[in-house]
Amino acid sequence: PIVTVLDDAAAVAAAVAEHVSRAVRQKPTLTLGLATGNTFRDVYNELIARFKAGEFSLAEAKAFNLDEYVGLPHGHPGSFEAYMQHHLFEHVDFAPGNARLPDVSAGDIAAACAAYEQAIVAAGGIDLQLLGIGRNGHIGFNEPGSPFDSRTREVPLTESTRTANAVDFPPGEMPPPMSVTMGIGTILEAREIVLAATGAHKAEALQQAFHAPISTDCPASALQRHGKVYIYRDRASLGA
Ligand code: F6R
Repeated sequence: PIVTVLDDAAAVAAAVAEHVSRAVRQKPTLTLGLATGNTFRDVYNELIARFKAGEFSLAEAKAFNLDEYVGLPHGHPGSFEAYMQHHLFEHVDFAPGNARLPDVSAGDIAAACAAYEQAIVAAGGIDLQLLGIGRNGHIGFNEPGSPFDSRTREVPLTESTRTANAVDFPPGEMPPPMSVTMGIGTILEAREIVLAATGAHKAEALQQAFHAPISTDCPASALQRHGKVYIYRDRASLGA
């Protein structure tokens, strides 16, 4: 991977936004793979600032989010759909229907997952996939043990992931136990991948992902098999 170490989380957010802005200027019709979570709140703020400054338009672009919880009522504030609306979609110019998340409202989730994969292919595949990394090395919601050839599917979340993500839920409410996520195989098909990680709590996961042998115990280590991965991390994520 091509690694850039920056001073702090703000600098990482700016660098990732710059990377995306450049990619969209180069290919206005590109297809993005999008992530949610804490790390990307700052990234999207930076991206919105660049959009408002007239650096790029997303009017011809498409986007597919990595993952979504299963079983939340539509519009629930903890849903990734609400997150994306609030932190990005409301502020930029994706054409209606061109920025989507896995369809978790379908009666047949397996069929909806297959349709999501087909939609990605129909959009020409993902040009640039944005990724965060979980403390346990997960990418998307592919928790440890996920096969590297996995596709979009319904998966259970670990307790550690649910606890980490509880901050985005109303007090006393936990994230659902199930989610739909793009698979590791889906992610590896993206032409280019940008992974953003900040904070000392990500040091161990990054160590296992990129400085240890490839193992399904650390899903992000699958990225060692991809030829075009850019990592933006802050100094704190280097650990002690
Ligand atoms: C989010 C996602 C997750 C997060 C990861 C890190 O769509 O797929 O893999 O990227 O859990 O989350 P934060 O940035 O909150 O530490």
